[in-house]
Parts: sequence; structure tokens; C-alpha cells
Amino acid sequence: MVSLVKIAFFAIYVFSVTFVEMAATRVLELSDRFLDIHKEGQWLVMMYAPWCAHCKRLEPVWAHVAQHLHATSIRVGRVDCTRFTNVAHTFKVRGFPTILFLKGDQEFAYHGDRTREEIVKFALRLSGPPVQEITKTQSFETIKRDRDLYFLYVGERSGPLWDIYHKTADVFQPHAFFYQSHPNVVNKHAPVEKTPALFVYKENLHYNFTDQQNLDSEKLNETLYKWVNAERFPTFPKVTRGNINQLFLTNKNLVLAVVEENQLEEVSPDMLQFKDMVESVIKAKREKYHDHFQFGWIANPELVNSIAMMVLPLPSLIVINTTTSHHHIPEDEPEKLNPHVIELFLEQIRNESAPRYGGNSWLVRIGRSWFELKTTLAAMWLGNPILTMVLFGLPAGFLSLICYGICCPDILDADDDEEEQQGGTHMKKD
Ligand SMILES: *[C@@H]1O[C@H](CO)[C@@H](O)[C@H](O)[C@H]1NC(C)=O
Ligand SMILES: *[C@@H]1O[C@H](CO)[C@@H](O)[C@H](O)[C@H]1NC(C)=O
Ligand SMILES: *[C@@H]1O[C@H](CO)[C@@H](O)[C@H](O)[C@H]1NC(C)=O
Ligand SMILES: *[C@@H]1O[C@H](CO)[C@@H](O)[C@H](O)[C@H]1NC(C)=O
Repeated sequence: MVSLVKIAFFAIYVFSVTFVEMAATRVLELSDRFLDIHKEGQWLVMMYAPWCAHCKRLEPVWAHVAQHLHATSIRVGRVDCTRFTNVAHTFKVRGFPTILFLKGDQEFAYHGDRTREEIVKFALRLSGPPVQEITKTQSFETIKRDRDLYFLYVGERSGPLWDIYHKTADVFQPHAFFYQSHPNVVNKHAPVEKTPALFVYKENLHYNFTDQQNLDSEKLNETLYKWVNAERFPTFPKVTRGNINQLFLTNKNLVLAVVEENQLEEVSPDMLQFKDMVESVIKAKREKYHDHFQFGWIANPELVNSIAMMVLPLPSLIVINTTTSHHHIPEDEPEKLNPHVIELFLEQIRNESAPRYGGNSWLVRIGRSWFELKTTLAAMWLGNPILTMVLFGLPAGFLSLICYGICCPDILDADDDEEEQQGGTHMKKD
């Protein structure tokens, strides 16, 4: 029995190793000569340094990205920037890893989460024109199946709405999929009453853009831009370091369920229940809250703690005003929160009667940096007390020696023996 299990494990191990290695071969290892050919075709490249830990972590993901894009015209490669510094210089690489999508003279840097799905989506969005045309019902069915969120314009490729849609798609191309089609292609799947019509599809539902009447082109541009910027997120996304900056651009209030994830990205049942409860509020009352609130959940307590400048209990609820960076925390204990209490809380935020904390003033920013420093030090201390002591104790010791030298030069000159002794005690104190 045991040996069978062993064999099975061995087989899985061999399979995974071969698989990863097979996939790894799809990543092109590029050199200085890349500079001669980077404008030909489409490239997704990772600029890396061999010593960088984040790059190492990205490596298996990158192999899978290459595997996934193998059938497309996008070539996936990587450049060791410590060896080919010219490449790093040309693309102004400032940190590692830097992920770039290149087509012709255009260059797009990737800032989102470093997961296979997100990177592949980023490359696929950019590989086509800003608005991709759907000419067959069959392709539309494929898109409906494969894409979790996309915009669809139904109508002729002309007129004010089209022009502005196209321009907006150009701006948001790295962040969303934009399509265009005709009523006869999509009519079984889209409720088109009159053209042109504009929809966003997400979570198997669609919502239309209704404000297109009676607007001059400037106003139309503004409303459409705002609409796309607000609708390009799922109803209840997972918020991470990679996408929180994009969510801040919505200028809405971010309503976040803060939970904890284990190493396998699993959320414990009681926290899951809390998260689902928060999600139910926006699912049930989308019409009411959608304009001012973007809901989501976050499993990165450090990120939220540094915004709140305190250690939040888990699970908990926090609302962040993305315009002013103020945050609100309900007065009730997290266990006492239910949809009704949350709705009252959101109403108080709307009528500005809820207490608000934090913000973006310099005083708050100093407080936030202090909090981050404190928590980083605490984490370092817990992780490796000796290293922390050496890292901070040694410079502090030297610093005090220098101060001592500057402040008490006479004593130093007067008695060398005493100086050594005092210096020694000084170091021990730190
Ligand atoms: C858009 O939605 C509104 C209500 O949600 C509806 O009255 C209108 O007919 C829809 N427009 C199109 C073009 O489907
Ligand atoms: C459309 O509106 C957006 C946001 O208000 C603005 O950034 C952009 O420059 C406008 N585009 C045009 C062509 O007016
Ligand atoms: C954020 O706070 C400002 C100032 O209190 C307020 O004017 C604005 O409406 C708030 N944003 C949202 C989306 O409620
Ligand atoms: C704000 O809304 C809350 C909840 O609906 C309500 O109890 C409170 O009286 C309102 N405050 C103001 C100043 O309107």
C-alpha cells in the first residue's frame, strides 16, 4: 500500500517536473539582440535579475503564461538585465521583475497581480485593436464562455457614440476587453432594442449604458468614460496590492470585507460566511449602491491595516473613500454586522454622519509610515530576532559612537583608555 502511494507520488512528481520543464522551453531567453527585433510582431517580456526573489517566484507563472499564449502571435520571452544592461537601459527598467508588452512602437508596462490568468488577459487585450469586431455568432458564444467581463457595442462603426467608445477603449485597453458587433450576430444573446447600444457583461448578466441621449460629445465622453471606469470591475472582486490602485481610480467608496487566507488561498468557513454576507448586500441592492460604492474582499490584512493604521480584527469591514483616502469603520463588532446594519452604515457614510478616520494629510501620512515601520520591525523581530538586532543594533552602536565622538572630543583626546571603555559600554546599551 505504502509503496503504491510512493509510486503515485513519484509519478506525479515526475509528471509535474517534466510538465514545467516542457513549458519552460516556450519562454525565449533573449539577449542584446532583442533590441534589433523588438519592434517586429508582439512581445511579452519579463525583465529580470537572477538574484531577485520576486523574479524566481514569477518563473513558474511565466512558463505557464508562455504555454497559454503559445497558440497566439504573442512571443513570450525574458531578458537577464544584469547581463544585458543595454536592454534594461533602453526600456528604462527600474525594478525587477518588469513585465512589458511590446507591439511596434507601443510599450505597455504591467502593474497588476502576477498570476497566470491576469498576465495572459493583459497580453490578449493588448494584442488586438482596442475594439475587436465580432462577425460570427459562434465567436460571440466563445467570448461569452471565456471572458468574465467585457464591453460590447452593437451597431455601425460610425457616429458619436462609436467614436467615443473607441477612444475610451483605447485608454482602457490594458484593463478590459472591448468588442463591437451587429444586431444580427448577437441578437439571440443581447437584448438590442435600437442601435447603437452599449453593454457591459459580467457574472453572466449584462447592464446597458443608458445615458447616450441628448448629450453633446464632450458630456457624452465624460459620462461614458466614467461608466467604463466604474463598470470594468467585477461586482465583488478580490482586492490585492496589484489591483487596489486601479480600484482607487473609481473615486467611489471601497467597501471591503477583510478576511484571512491560508497558504493555499483558502478562507475559513466563518470568514467565508462573513464575506458572503457582505457580498449579498451589493448583489441584492446593486441599483442603490453601485453609483457610490465598489464592493470587494481582501485577504491581505497588512495592506488594510496600513491604510487603517491599526490592526483590524478578522473578519471585519472597512470602507475607504478613494477620493480623500479617509476610511470608515462600523461601530458595531464584526459579529453583529448583518446586511441591515451594513446598509445603515453605508447611508451614514453617504450623508456624511459616519465618523471618518485617516485621510491623506501629511500628518496622517507620517502616522501611516510610522505604523508601517513599527509593524515591519515587529514582523522582522518575530521572524529573526538576531538578524534584526544586528541590522539595527550595529548602526545604532556606530551612530552613538560617532555622536559620542562629536559631542565629547575633549574626553576622547584626554584619555584614550577611558574612551575605549566608555565606547564599549555604549555599544552594549544599544
Ligand atoms: C437599457 O436598460 C433600460 C432599463 O434598464 C431599458 O429601459 C432600455 O430599453 C435598455 N436599452 C437597450 C438599448 O437595451
Ligand atoms: C474624455 O473624458 C476623459 C475623462 O473625463 C478625459 O480624460 C479625456 O481627455 C476626454 N477625451 C476627449 C477626447 O475629450
Ligand atoms: C469622499 O469624501 C468627500 C469629502 O467628504 C465627499 O465629498 C465624497 O462624496 C466622498 N466620496 C464618495 C464616493 O462618497
Ligand atoms: C444619516 O443617515 C442615517 C441612517 O439612515 C440616519 O439615522 C441619520 O439621521 C442621517 N443623518 C443626517 C444628518 O441626515
